[in-house]
Order: sequence, then C-alpha cells, then structure tokens
Amino acid sequence: MPETYPAPANAAEGVAMMRVNVKILRFDPEKDRKAHWETYPVEAQAGDRVLDVINHVKWYLDPSLTFRRSCGHGICGSDAMLINGRNRLACKTLLRDVAKDGGTITVEPIRGLKVEKDLLVDMEPFFDSYRAIMPYFINESPPPPAERLQSPEQADRMAHSSNCILCACCTTSCPIFWVNGSYLGPASIVQAHRFIFDSRDQATPQRLNIMNQNTGVWRCRTAYNCTEACPRDIPITTIIEEVKRAVMYQQA
Ligand code: SF4
Ligand code: F3S
Ligand code: FES
Repeated sequence: MPETYPAPANAAEGVAMMRVNVKILRFDPEKDRKAHWETYPVEAQAGDRVLDVINHVKWYLDPSLTFRRSCGHGICGSDAMLINGRNRLACKTLLRDVAKDGGTITVEPIRGLKVEKDLLVDMEPFFDSYRAIMPYFINESPPPPAERLQSPEQADRMAHSSNCILCACCTTSCPIFWVNGSYLGPASIVQAHRFIFDSRDQATPQRLNIMNQNTGVWRCRTAYNCTEACPRDIPITTIIEEVKRAVMYQQA
C-alpha cells in the first residue's frame, strides 16, 4: 500500500483540486459498542465522485473501512449512503456538489436497516419486501410466435417504475419505514407498479391485494422524502398515488 495518495495525472494541467475532511460514521461490531465518527483528510479533484473519495480512504488511509459498491456508474444501486444527511448514490455524487475546498462532508449508512459494519447495512429486510410483491412477469396464456407486444402508450405507463435499480434510497429515507419496518416501502411499491401497469401481466388482482394489506400503500403519508431521494428521478409519490387509486378501483 503506498504511503501517500498518488497525485492525479492531470493535476498539473490546472484541474481544480480540493482538500476535504471526510467524516465517516464507523462501527465495528467486534470492537465498538456504538458508532463513532472518524475524519480523514483527503485531497481530490473537484469533479471526483464521493465514491472516489471513499475508495481513497479505504485504499490509502484505512483498509478496514467497509462499504458496498460495484458498477461505479449508477447502475447496480449498491452504494446508497447518507451524504451530508441526504440519501444519495456515492458514485453519482460529485464532490464539488457537496463540499467546499477546506470543508467537511459527512457519510453515514442509510437508515432503518441494521448496520453490519461501517456503511454496510443488512439489505435482507429490504429484499424480503421486494420479493413480497411477486417481482416477476406472470402470464399463463400460450406465448405468441414472436413477442408479447405493447403499444408505445402501454409501455409508457410503466416507463418510470421500470427504471428502478433497487438502491433503497427511497425506502430508507421514509419516516414511516423508520418507525415500522413491516411497511413494504416505496421501492417495493414502485416495483409492484411496474407489473401492475404492465399490460402483458396477468397478476394485477394479486398484487393489488398485496398493496391493500396493512403493510401496503395505505401506510404512505405522502412525506415525499422518497421522491427527493431517488437517484433515477422516479416520481415515486405519484406512482404510489397511482397504485392507491388502482387498489381503490381495482383496475389498472
Ligand atoms: Fe432507488 Fe429510486 Fe428504485 Fe427507490 S425507486 S429503489 S430510490 S431507484
Ligand atoms: Fe414515505 Fe414516500 Fe410515502 S417518504 S410516506 S413512501 S411519499
Ligand atoms: Fe453501482 Fe453506485 S456503484 S450504483
């Protein structure tokens, strides 16, 4: 492991550099009784992502730092975290948008799920809720020779909800989910919407029935945190309202 952070190749070409203090909420279940803050001074380019900065901390300052990341490009949804008090994907958040030169950024695990270590939370309850809405295509009729076709208008009805990457930014920013983990949560409702409003799917009554349970859509109190947190700009609260209406009228 190198002792110093290698200067970025283009640093000498006038790329704006920043010094930031990265304040991370750390927790090691084998050593700590409760979480505590640790601060790491980092020099980085203004256009770096927060993920680059956290990688820097892990690779050059403290290899014990634990967090999830995979694609690095906003596709896999694995690096949701609380950055300056707001749920974001670290790989989609530019340093210059959350920090000033000489300033501090805070990084914490997403809320409402058990912290396993540092920024790593137990995602199983989140995926249990996802599985509960039957997140797969159901159509018992014989398949046509080619594809099951949709009109552009039919495809549009599920266009937003099919953009979800299951990052959990929405569900873990919802105050209802914080106090009642049995609420299926906005991410699962978005996923249910994706199938309920799919003209080719035949399980709408079953999914609407799941949404009508006391763990379903009626728990939503229109707090809007979910919509503000979504890195895919999915209009989640509107989607939840559409599902509520579909439950009321039992039609999609
Ligand atoms: Fe993430 Fe948005 Fe999907 Fe919620 S709806 S899980 S915030 S992509
Ligand atoms: Fe929660 Fe979003 Fe409803 S934050 S209360 S699911 S609008
Ligand atoms: Fe995949 Fe950020 S690492 S979405």
